[in-house]
Amino acid sequence: MDAWRRLSALMRRIQTVNAMRTWSRGLQRKGVTIGLVPTMGALHEGHRSLIRAARLACDAVAVSIFVNPLQFGPLEDFDRYPRSLAQDLRICRSAGVDTVFIPRAQEMYPADFETVVSVQRLTRRYEGLSRPGHFGGVTTVVTKLLNIIRPDKAFFGQKDYQQAVVVERLAKDLDLDTEIVVRPTVREPDGLALSSRNRHLSPEERKAATVLYRALSEGRELIRAGERSVRKVEAAMTRLIRAEPVVRLDYLAVVDPITLDEVRSVRGRVVLLLAVWIGETRLIDNLIVTAR
Ligand code: PAF
Repeated sequence: MDAWRRLSALMRRIQTVNAMRTWSRGLQRKGVTIGLVPTMGALHEGHRSLIRAARLACDAVAVSIFVNPLQFGPLEDFDRYPRSLAQDLRICRSAGVDTVFIPRAQEMYPADFETVVSVQRLTRRYEGLSRPGHFGGVTTVVTKLLNIIRPDKAFFGQKDYQQAVVVERLAKDLDLDTEIVVRPTVREPDGLALSSRNRHLSPEERKAATVLYRALSEGRELIRAGERSVRKVEAAMTRLIRAEPVVRLDYLAVVDPITLDEVRSVRGRVVLLLAVWIGETRLIDNLIVTAR
């Protein structure tokens, strides 16, 4: 076992920016690499898989838990967002996390805070259209976390595909010294992508929520069978979604995996992006599909 790890066998819980900086700079001086898993808490198997990837790739692992008010619109579910700190800490401990960073909103955003980091074109569609201001909040908090911790690698889930592309762009454009690692979506056995918001679903809504993966799979199968018309792929997916009375389609798009531009016909790799409302809960999902 590494000497630094023997000295810090207990998981640290850090709440201030200064203490977090001291921890990460101290390790970096010793040549210890750090992997960061940024989260808003309500941890699930998807987060566990990001922590596992960070453990494998880096010497030390930090998880941040911060329900970031800046990425929720005034009418969105900030107050309703699930919070389960005690359980999150248990999950982190059992997953071998070295430090959990739980900053306070007052320190992250003091009264005189007025900077927003903004990625332009990539954020103006899909999630950015449905949730105005959302990505400004995400890119600002991610920039802050990466500046405070300066991890060698930061781990994000593919479930938030647009977010992952936006964060990759941000890291590149701002010359941040952190490699962005995107890991595959973790799903329930029936295909539902794990999400902290799934816990809001009633039993009836939970059943209907399988339609996201069913619709995405339908799109993938059509493409694999040779369909190249995006209009036809979208029509088939939309039919499945409309057949679920409690589900309301927000957007559905077939896009280029890098530019996120919508494509009209399928060539090479595309991403099927989907967002729906199920009652009061908004869920997103996606699949990367390669036309052969
Ligand atoms: O994906 C999330 O949980 C959040 O958007 C993130 C990246 C932790 C920023 O608050």
